[in-house]
Amino acid sequence: MQSQFPTAVSTVLGIETSCDETAVALYRHGQGIVTQAVHTQLDHAKYGGVVPELASRDHVRKLAPMIRQVLEEAGCGPAAVDAVAYTAGPGLAGALLVGSAVAEGYARGIGRPTIAVHHMEGHLLSPMLEPEPPEFPFVALLVSGGHTMLIEVQAPGAYRLLGETLDDAAGEAFDKTARLLDVGYPGGPEVARLAEQGDAGRFDFPRPMTDRPGLDFSFSGLKTHTRLLIEREADDAQTRADIAAGFERAVVDTLVIKCRRALKQTRLDRLIVAGGVSANRRLRAALDTKLPGRVYYPPLALCTDNGAMIALAGWYRRAEAGRAGTIAVRPRWPLDELPPLTVAEPA
Ligand code: KG4
Ligand code: ZN
Repeated sequence: MQSQFPTAVSTVLGIETSCDETAVALYRHGQGIVTQAVHTQLDHAKYGGVVPELASRDHVRKLAPMIRQVLEEAGCGPAAVDAVAYTAGPGLAGALLVGSAVAEGYARGIGRPTIAVHHMEGHLLSPMLEPEPPEFPFVALLVSGGHTMLIEVQAPGAYRLLGETLDDAAGEAFDKTARLLDVGYPGGPEVARLAEQGDAGRFDFPRPMTDRPGLDFSFSGLKTHTRLLIEREADDAQTRADIAAGFERAVVDTLVIKCRRALKQTRLDRLIVAGGVSANRRLRAALDTKLPGRVYYPPLALCTDNGAMIALAGWYRRAEAGRAGTIAVRPRWPLDELPPLTVAEPA
């Protein structure tokens, strides 16, 4: 969709509600993130995973006050906002609907256009918020709670899927392992913390799908292996830490092997890693030391879901800004179905 206001968009309000983070940020081109707020819903902890209905209800409660807060802290009113970007997918349908309805209503109220953003494009572009962003082209490893993908990125908007998970995502494997080890939710950081006290070499773990060619992933076998090990062995604290460490090392090794292969196949030497699992310190250390070329990450606070990456992706897609009012979300939305960008970067 072509917009009536293509290049006038410099300040974007970003709204993220695809899962269990309610997040809002104001991004201004040339300045970066002006202000942002993230609310992580912790009610899900007692259920061991995200409960979609609870997530939607909490977004309803939190979103409007957070928009007000972000603009207040930025010292500006709605007039400073050129466009409202929101996550239209992929994600939980109800949660996405709350964000899109609030965004569309708010934008209409202030007479500004909206931009529907793909959540994973937000993650993918988030390293561009670092002071020294990567140049294009690069390979992107996206590792979150819902996705594990390797993508060849020639330019913003030009994505070629190289490989993805055939079953569980890397973050999901961390979350399920956390549940089995009873270390709480969200699982990734808790498993990583437990692994610090563990001996990663005590038990053998598989490195799934690394012994055959290709760039796809599969984590369900590793998950079953870990479950059986926990059921058989884990009755003391040290053994649980050793299992956490072995599991983490197996995930890290698998990701490193596939990234090396993707760089070789594409003949590129830059890798960006984004999504919640990119916050993992052992993953970062392994990628930094074991790969040729340079590895780029988002700022640590922007690895997990946030509004800044949605505002930034909205800015890149400013040519798609359209009249507010159509509430359409895509809970399932393959990244490579995104249209190419029509505004060259940067303005
Ligand atoms: O990107 P994200 O916030 O949400 C999705 O789009 O899914 O990613 C959340 C995922 C969760 O599975 C969480 O356990 C994982 O990222 N995660 C981590 C770490 N921090 C977050 N996994 C491993 N180590 C971490 N430090
Ligand atoms: Zn995410």
